[in-house]
Amino acid sequence: MFERSSVIIRDRAKLSFDYVPEKLVGRESQMDSLAMLFAPVVSDGLSETAFITGPVGTGKTATAKRFCMDMADHCAGKGIRMDYVFVNCRQKSTEAGVLLQLLRHYDPGFPDRGFSPAEMYRSLLGLIRKSASRLVIVLDEADVLIRKGSGDLVYQLSRSNEEMGAVRTSVSLIMISQEYILDRLDDASRSSFKRANVIRFPRYDRDGLLAIVRARAEEAIVHEGADDDALSLIADIASEIGDARLAVELLDKSARIAESKALGVITAEDVRESNDMSVSEFTKAKLESLDRNRLLAMLAVSRSIKTRSSVTLAAAEKTYHIACEEFETPARKHTQFWTYICDLEKLGFVVTTMVSDESGGRTKAISIRDIPTKTLSSMIEELLG
Ligand SMILES: Nc1ncnc2c1ncn2[C@@H]1O[C@H](COP(=O)(O)OP(=O)(O)OP(=O)(O)O)[C@@H](O)[C@H]1O
Ligand SMILES: [Mg+2]
Repeated sequence: MFERSSVIIRDRAKLSFDYVPEKLVGRESQMDSLAMLFAPVVSDGLSETAFITGPVGTGKTATAKRFCMDMADHCAGKGIRMDYVFVNCRQKSTEAGVLLQLLRHYDPGFPDRGFSPAEMYRSLLGLIRKSASRLVIVLDEADVLIRKGSGDLVYQLSRSNEEMGAVRTSVSLIMISQEYILDRLDDASRSSFKRANVIRFPRYDRDGLLAIVRARAEEAIVHEGADDDALSLIADIASEIGDARLAVELLDKSARIAESKALGVITAEDVRESNDMSVSEFTKAKLESLDRNRLLAMLAVSRSIKTRSSVTLAAAEKTYHIACEEFETPARKHTQFWTYICDLEKLGFVVTTMVSDESGGRTKAISIRDIPTKTLSSMIEELLG
């Protein structure tokens, strides 16, 4: 039963989130900048540092990976030894964690305890020296590491080249972060990241996203397996945040939905359905980050709004008291309730406006824009237990 052949998807792996396309559409100038910076690393075994920054889903990780893969291929073709290690600092967020991953690149059996970071660092230098290769270390989501106070490691790594002393061996560093973290490094570490080596990844616009989703469809979907309309709609939706991840995800989900139907082509309707699914998954993940008090406030808005477009603050607060009783949680005072609503607005769950009330006065109204309240209420009820 798992053998059913696909009529629409030609190569599923190319829709997966960790697939690195051969060409990153619209990122040619960033690739060129990296190539220019790292040319002396390849030709003369020198070291280099670069900092990649830009908003969510702008291709930072994918471009850095593609760049390292291409550089390794190029070096292999010329008989030059080049290694790269990609560290995700969200997963390895301590100095020891990062060092261990680097060490294991050379020595897969390196023990995970018993050594201080200083000892690990010394062992690493020894191993790099022995490998006699040009090493490029990529610290992805490096902000997590810096925020945890491990900026020292960045300094050490960026300077480790000076301790190498050997020809043909060099250590280069690429840091990636949404946030511009160079300002958070101390002066010494910052000085090794020259201003000129900052490579910016701007948000994709609609046309950029359309080009990306088209290119991905060509690789992953059968010929004429996706309506132009459908691809345009994906670009429209994803352009609201400029996130290529959302575009690829919508293509993947729409393709699966279309597979389950008989048309043999992805249509705009499949995209709408898949977007509906994504929005609710996204909302669920965001709801999970709320505390009990804010969940109850959100539930009150959702329950009191029902089929209307908005609800007054007073009506929502009344429902809030009932919900608190139901879920056996003490209700907070009016000002606190209003603070919760403001927090929910900042997080994008609700929108507040001023409207006229029946007596001709002005009152605050709360609305929910992008998810059916029935779905929302039942998600929150589940979380409240
Ligand atoms: N120019 C592009 N061409 C093709 N695919 C792209 C392009 N840019 C991004 N993608 C795809 O979009 C997804 C998100 O890209 P990526 O992970 O590189 O974003 P990011 O900038 O690292 O985001 P984050 O800041 O959240 O880590 C990946 O699946 C990637 O393959
Ligand atoms: Mg990334």
